[in-house]
Order: sequence, then C-alpha cells, then structure tokens
Amino acid sequence: MTQKNSFRIVSLPGDGIGPEVCREGARVLESCVKHAGKKLELVEMPLGGVALDAGKPALPDETRAALSGVDAVLLGAVGLPKYDGVPGDRRPEKGLLDLRKMLGVYANLRPVRAVEALIGASPLKEEIVRGTDLVVVRELLSDVYFGEPRGFDPDGKRAFNTMSYTEEEVRRVVKLAFEMARGRRKLVTSVDKANVLEASQLWRRVAKEVGADYPDVKLEHQYVDSCAMDLIKKPTRFDVVVTSNLFGDILTDEAAVLAGSIGLLPSASLGDGPGLYEPIHGSAPDIAGKGIANPLGTIASVAMMLRSSLGLPQEAERVDRAIERVLNDGHRTADLGGSVKTSQMGDYVCRALESD
Ligand code: NAD
Ligand code: IPM
Ligand code: MN
Repeated sequence: MTQKNSFRIVSLPGDGIGPEVCREGARVLESCVKHAGKKLELVEMPLGGVALDAGKPALPDETRAALSGVDAVLLGAVGLPKYDGVPGDRRPEKGLLDLRKMLGVYANLRPVRAVEALIGASPLKEEIVRGTDLVVVRELLSDVYFGEPRGFDPDGKRAFNTMSYTEEEVRRVVKLAFEMARGRRKLVTSVDKANVLEASQLWRRVAKEVGADYPDVKLEHQYVDSCAMDLIKKPTRFDVVVTSNLFGDILTDEAAVLAGSIGLLPSASLGDGPGLYEPIHGSAPDIAGKGIANPLGTIASVAMMLRSSLGLPQEAERVDRAIERVLNDGHRTADLGGSVKTSQMGDYVCRALESD
C-alpha cells in the first residue's frame, strides 16, 4: 500500500442509531489520523431512509458522486420502521445494497472475539465462550440478495428470489478466506447447504478447487444448519468461516451472542476499490434517539479501516487497545448492562487513545 499524507473518507451515518454511533467512530478516526501526522477530509452524505425522506433515491446521485476517489467509506446503519412493507426498490436497505454493488465490495469480513472482560456478558456458559476468535468471510455481492429473476407475480399471490452463484463469485471470496487463514490458525470452514441447493454444490466444488492451491491450510465443509449449532456449542473450533451472502448475514448475528452484544461487532467490506466499514448491527429503532447505543462496533470498524484501507496498522492497534482498556475499566453501555451513554463511550475511547 502506498503511503499517503491525506485521506478522503465519506461518512454515511444513515438512520436510527446510525448517526449516533457514526459520530463516535468519526471522532476516533480524526484523532488517529492526526496522531499519525496525516490529514483527513471527512465528508458526510445521505444514504437510506434520510435520503428517501428528502425525496431522493436511497443511494442519491450526490452520494454516488462524492464516493469517487475516496480512500474508504464509513457507514452507520440504514432502515426505518416507516418503510416496513414498502417494496424492495423503495426501501432504505436498497441504498446499502446499491452502495455495496457500486463499490464492488465482494467480501465482508466480520471478526468475532470473546474478550476476557466480557465473558460474563454472553448468555452462554463461560467455558463455551472463552477463547472464541473467529472471522466470518461473507460473500456480499451475489446470492438471493441480487439473483434474478426476483419479484411478485402480477396477482401478488406468489413471490420469488433466485439463489445464484457463478464460479468466479465463489472463487474470489474463498481465495480471500484462504489468504486470511494463512495469517491465522490455518483452518477454513466453508459453510453451505450442498445437500439441497445447486448453488451450494457449485460453492463446495469451487471451494475445494481453491483449497488445492493452499495445501498448508486445512479446508472443511459444513452444512449451514449444523454450523449454526456449533457456533454456540463449540465456537472455539472455528478460525475462518467462509460462506454465502444470506448464510453469512444470519450466522454473524448469531455469533454476536458470543461477543456479548451485537453492538460490539465490526465489519470491513473489501473489493478492488475503496473499502466499506460498518458495524454489523442495524438502525435499532427500539433505542434510536436515546443516546444509549453501543458505538464500539463502529469504532472497531474504524480500526479495520485504519489497517486495511489507510495503511496505518499501528493506529489500528491503538484503537483495538483503547477498546479493550475501556472494557477492562468496566465501562458498559446499556446493551452490556451498564449506563454509559454513546457519547461517553466515545469520550472514554478517545481518552484511552490519548494516554496510549
Ligand atoms: P438491529 O441490529 O437494528 O437491532 C437488533 C437488536 O439489537 C435491537 O434490540 C437493538 O436495540 C440492538 N442493537 C443493535 N445495535 C445496537 C447497538 N449498537 N447498541 C445497543 N444495542 C444495539 O436489527 P433489526 O431490529 O432487525 O433491524 C432494524 C433495522 O435495521 C431494519 O430496518 C433493518 O433492515 C436494518 N438493518 C440495517 C443494517 C445495516 O445498515 N448494515 C444491518 C442490520 C439491519
Ligand atoms: C447487514 C444487514 C443488511 C444485509 C441489510 C440491511 C440489507 O442485515 O448488513 O447485515 O442483509 O446485508
Ligand atoms: Mn444483518
């Protein structure tokens, strides 16, 4: 990665708690870029329900235009209850799907760790959770999310989606999973439903083909239903889990239970262009506007951005250390049983960064 002196980042706060957590992520980003002696241009643009409310598409033209030439994108969350029941192309979520497509981010990395300070925060037994350190590599640009045909019959009495994968779509994401595994514990679990679905049969075949190029990495295959069980029964057995778009979406919300709260989990979506960084949670309408959302998933996503898009791994490590320190000091937002507010949590992380 070439070393740059200034970065242009677009922030897409979105809906619900999106702006609340994004604000804290942006503060941490500003602090780290400054600490590294670099310059930051951070531009905020509309995406999702806020854009629809303003009479624009969920991914407005001005947002598309602002994305040209950026180094990375930071995203809060999209989705508003008022759009429930509205057809797919006029929903906030369509903005996010269009954004992922536009950026070409085919691999969504979702690390899940059980940090010692939060072992008791999971409803699962300590001896099950302790030692969990896995990453789900979720394919992000295909599957039922994008497959054609899709829609309703004219009479509205039948609806359909298409689960579809090409060899190339599988190959590129599985390759990335193997590369990651080389820097970890050298185990790839490819998750599919090959006992029923043709798309999964192709997935498994291509996973085996890619695996042949990585003799130093162990490849195993598991059905998604069985994997869902193992994730909360023996999570420490997993290292890199690679799976299709829909399965990865579902398994990672489940895996959040291991970490202690979905508010903690970050993600990086990578392709050939700028990376997209967002917490895995949604807009959480049930707590939006109260200032109590956990911003640590977004802050941890900033750490992933510093590492993978900005070439500042030392800053990324500082952020990871600051998060751990804050948790070790016992600071907890409401989702973890505490009363620390979103902005206070941001304060604590910034303070920990300053004293690092
Ligand atoms: P959600 O993730 O928004 O919320 C699920 C539960 O987790 C809620 O009880 C919520 O309060 C809690 N939660 C989530 N994030 C939290 C945080 N940071 N701190 C504390 N608690 C947190 O999922 P949902 O309720 O199924 O979806 C709500 C909306 O968000 C929907 O419109 C959905 O489409 C959208 N969504 C968007 C994204 C995204 O933008 N990437 C991801 C998932 C869901
Ligand atoms: C996520 C979300 C999205 C997804 C929705 C909002 C489109 O659940 O980022 O996990 O399903 O990918
Ligand atoms: Mn999801």
